[in-house]
Amino acid sequence: MKPTSDPVELYSDRADSYVRFVRFVRYPQGLRAYFLRSSLLDSELRVLDAGCGTGIVTLALRDALLRRGLVPGPVHAFDLTPAMLEHFRDTLRKREIEGIDLAQANVLELERLADSWGNYDLIVSASMLEYLPRSRLSTALTGLRSLLKEGGSLVLFITRRNWLTRPLIGRWWRSNLYAKSELEQAFRDAGFASITFGEFPPLYRYLALWGYIIEARR
Ligand SMILES: C[S@@+](CC[C@H](N)C(=O)[O-])C[C@H]1O[C@@H](n2cnc3c(N)ncnc32)[C@H](O)[C@@H]1O
Repeated sequence: MKPTSDPVELYSDRADSYVRFVRFVRYPQGLRAYFLRSSLLDSELRVLDAGCGTGIVTLALRDALLRRGLVPGPVHAFDLTPAMLEHFRDTLRKREIEGIDLAQANVLELERLADSWGNYDLIVSASMLEYLPRSRLSTALTGLRSLLKEGGSLVLFITRRNWLTRPLIGRWWRSNLYAKSELEQAFRDAGFASITFGEFPPLYRYLALWGYIIEARR
C-alpha cells in the first residue's frame, strides 16, 4: 500500500486507534524517558511541537521538565488534522494545563502561522514528516530550521525503514519510512551543519526498532 496522500482523512478516522496503538507500545513513556535525560531541556524554553497530533510529545516533554524541577515556558503546537487537535484540547482541559497554544497548520505552509510563532529554543516533531511526499522532506526541515533562534535545536523522531516498520507503520499507518543516510542528506540539504542521532534510554531501547531520534542545532 502507498503512503497516504490524505493524512487528514486517515487521522480523522483513526485518532482513537492511534492513541490505543501508541499506548500499547509505551511510546509516550519512551519519549518522556528520552526527555528526562536530554541535555537540551531548561526552564522557560520557547517550544514548538510540529505535527503535535493528540499532544503526546508536548505532554511527554512537559512531564519531563516538571519531573526535573524545570519551569515549562510557552509552547506552541500545530497539526493538520482538526480531530487530532480536538483530542489534544480535551486532554489539556481535563488535566487543567495552560500555556499551550494550538493551531491548525501545514508544515509546508509555515508562513501562514501567526508572526508570534517563531524564535524557538526547541522544536520537537514526531511521526509527522513521514506523511509528506519524500521530495518535500528537506523543504519542511528548512522551514522548521527558520523558526529556530540562533543556537536553538530541533529534535525529530521519525520512522526508520526495516522489516518491522514496513508492515506495521508503512502499510498499516500508511506512512513513508526512512534510512539513516536519507535523513542525513535531508538535514544537510536543509542547512543543518551537523546532526546527532539520539538514543532511547535502556528500558525503551526497543523503540529504536521503530524510529530514529535526530538532534540538530541551528
Ligand atoms: C502519527 S501522528 C503523530 C502525532 C504526534 N506527533 C505523536 O507523535 O503522537 C501524525 C500526525 O501528523 C499530522 N500531519 C500529517 N501531515 C501534516 C502536515 N503536512 N502538517 C502538519 N501536520 C501533519 C497528522 O495530522 C497527524 O496528527
